[in-house]
Amino acid sequence: MLEQRRSDGSLRHLITLADLSRAEIQSLLDHSARYVSDAGARPPSNRSLNGITIANMFTEPSTRTRVSFELAGRRLGADVLNIEVQLSSRAKGESMLDTIRTLEAMHIDVLVIRDSEPGVIEEVARDVAPHVSVLSGGEAHVSHPTQGLLDALTITQRKGADFSRLTVALVGDIRHSRVARSAYEVLTALGVGQLRLIGPAEMMPPPEEFPGCRRFHAPEDGLAQADVVMMLRIQKERMLEASIPDGAEYFARFGLTAPRLKLAKADAIVMHPGPMNRGIEISSEVADGPQSVIRAQVRNGVAVRMAVLETVARPRRLGV
Ligand code: CP
Repeated sequence: MLEQRRSDGSLRHLITLADLSRAEIQSLLDHSARYVSDAGARPPSNRSLNGITIANMFTEPSTRTRVSFELAGRRLGADVLNIEVQLSSRAKGESMLDTIRTLEAMHIDVLVIRDSEPGVIEEVARDVAPHVSVLSGGEAHVSHPTQGLLDALTITQRKGADFSRLTVALVGDIRHSRVARSAYEVLTALGVGQLRLIGPAEMMPPPEEFPGCRRFHAPEDGLAQADVVMMLRIQKERMLEASIPDGAEYFARFGLTAPRLKLAKADAIVMHPGPMNRGIEISSEVADGPQSVIRAQVRNGVAVRMAVLETVARPRRLGV
């Protein structure tokens, strides 16, 4: 596994949460909390990353992650570039590593990469110059570390910091979900009481993955007394055409409706990383209802990405 830290122990890259200690995760969550603002309030900003250049390079579509990394960088005073991959020389056959070297020559300090192929982000991190940090904006089905952090921050805000009391249910397409894998890593590190996986057999991960989780094939069994219900998007882009489920049938069996949500605790929160497929994974009544924290997740995404950018890039800014 790639060493994500510098020789002094500070975080240089963030590609996975798997090797972060509980203290490191807690420190990132505490740092993020300083950048959280209420809906409609003026968002916090400063110039801590003035002079730092961040490049977003997403080879898969994104709204939340890409925009929030851009806003996070700008709110810290950094220069932010969004590389349009289809308009870049990659479309003319330039390799990812040659593109990265080209960006390095223009004094990029932080690269945020989303890629559909496992291992590419790590390969880039191994290759970049020592002053450059690489952050994952989502790696295939493998990992989405800043999503894991924003999910943990959102749960903390609503349920407190003692995760050992909590039962969290991940529902839907767990097999193809990088969100589920990073949720597993962060929740396990924070000592979650019980983690349940609920989904059809074909969307369950292999048995060796998600050790310690209880598995259910019906929400009627798995949702009972849950504190947190995290719905997952069906990752059609990672499925063969023939195995994509019929939307109406899937909603009937696994969609989160108001009656199904009643199986969880009365004060359970409902999460979804987005983009949502309404009427397939979740009803609009639940998505827009009082137990939904989906918009808070999006707001927290900016705060988490500010904290992560500041953590990896401040040493560079300070000339370390
Ligand atoms: N949650 C998430 O990664 O959303 P985007 O694909 O819009 O970035």
